[in-house]
Amino acid sequence: MVSPDKALSNKMWGGRFAEAPDAIMEEINASIGFDQRLFRQDIAGSKAHATMLAATGILTQTDRDAILAGLDEVLAEIESGQFKFSRALEDIHMNVESRLREKIGDAAGRLHTARSRNDQVATDFRLYVRDYIDTLVGQIRGLQLGLVARAEDEAETILPGFTHLQNAQPITFGHHLLAYVEMLGRDAGRLEDARKRLNENPLGSAALAGTPYPIDRDMTAQALGFDRPTANSLDAVSDRDFILETLAAASICAMHLSRFAEEMVIWSSAQFGFVRLSDKFTTGSSIMPQKRNPDAAELVRAKIGRILGALNALLVVMKGLPLAYSKDMQEDKEVAFDALDALSLSLAAMTGMVADMVPNRERMHASASAGFSTATDVADWLVRELNIPFRDAHHITGQVVSLAEQKGCGLEGLTIEDFKLIDHRIDSRIHKVLTVEASVAARASYGGTAPANVLAQAARWKSELTGEHHEPRALKAKKHGGHGDGGIA
Ligand code: ARG
Repeated sequence: MVSPDKALSNKMWGGRFAEAPDAIMEEINASIGFDQRLFRQDIAGSKAHATMLAATGILTQTDRDAILAGLDEVLAEIESGQFKFSRALEDIHMNVESRLREKIGDAAGRLHTARSRNDQVATDFRLYVRDYIDTLVGQIRGLQLGLVARAEDEAETILPGFTHLQNAQPITFGHHLLAYVEMLGRDAGRLEDARKRLNENPLGSAALAGTPYPIDRDMTAQALGFDRPTANSLDAVSDRDFILETLAAASICAMHLSRFAEEMVIWSSAQFGFVRLSDKFTTGSSIMPQKRNPDAAELVRAKIGRILGALNALLVVMKGLPLAYSKDMQEDKEVAFDALDALSLSLAAMTGMVADMVPNRERMHASASAGFSTATDVADWLVRELNIPFRDAHHITGQVVSLAEQKGCGLEGLTIEDFKLIDHRIDSRIHKVLTVEASVAARASYGGTAPANVLAQAARWKSELTGEHHEPRALKAKKHGGHGDGGIA
């Protein structure tokens, strides 16, 4: 006779258990609270497994048909929100299987032939991460396209370029935006790379050692879109580097977004005033009516914390674990879900902010012109036109800057007599290189900030991202900029 306690023990594995688990045990052990997200992958994996078991003669066609139909019903129940998840059933795998048993009876018990929850969870999670990578890469591409569109409009907009957050040299706003397009391109590449490595099928590795049944792992691999079955069953059930790698790529992407977000915060401050963020991505203050806070940018700046935290958490969980599966590995999911969600949300917020931001071109220009930002152009001119060694040219330019400082004007405010006072070899052609427009137009070396380069790079990215050929847009201002001849002699 079955003891009352035994009846309370887990019906999926409770054969040798006399007592039900402690409530605390159930709480610490259950993953259904978070792994229910894997239901689609879990059901897809089970359908592929059942189909393969029937094809290899391990399961009858009748049982297979009952299983496939039953799994579709379970899927529909979960999708419509009718499914009752049970914590006593621990995880998504046992919740689905138990419901299947309620629906189709004993045939459900045959589904678990030649597999274990260890290869099942490894399969489900790989499928899930693979899908999420595709989503993230799509979002990154969207943000890149948004940035490229803005960069084309701002190809000739002058922005101060900084080093040490000190005014360094004038650049174009378009060039600055395209810098992030490059970073995001590598981010997408890293995720795609991780996807290639993770795309192997663990299903059929069973608990850890493989199975005596004549299964066909190529068949399930193909059904689930995997490139091939994993080659080592121990590795297959205990590998979590596919998530680690994805989280590492996600962390780097989040770091890039954080830098950009920080620039949004700085640029939108009253002190800088370079951009205005839209009402849609800012908040007001309940006490200071004038305020417009860049909350979305600040939160994107911060998300790296939890994303990198997830990578760190999982590395620490995995460190020192002996082969093969240990329950520690169940800790992989919450942090990974949280991190991937955070990155996805950050990408969406950033895409919205980029589309909506309104640049203040006058402010940017004025700021770029301040602080003798074309001093390097003076030195370059001395080298190019007068054949003065760069070190000496640097020294002479230092004196020029110092004179402008004494006179309280910018470099363009110095007369030719002022220049000759410092070095008699300088002639009036120097004035052509003193404007910020001339400065940026001159930087036409490959990868440089010149407007023509920005338009060429924007067209290259547009072609790459859309798969259609795009020619570079024409410059708006007449060549060499509106304020003087910035061409290279
Ligand atoms: N919920 C478990 C996890 O996420 C599934 C695997 C359980 N395997 C086991 N042998 N208890 O890791």
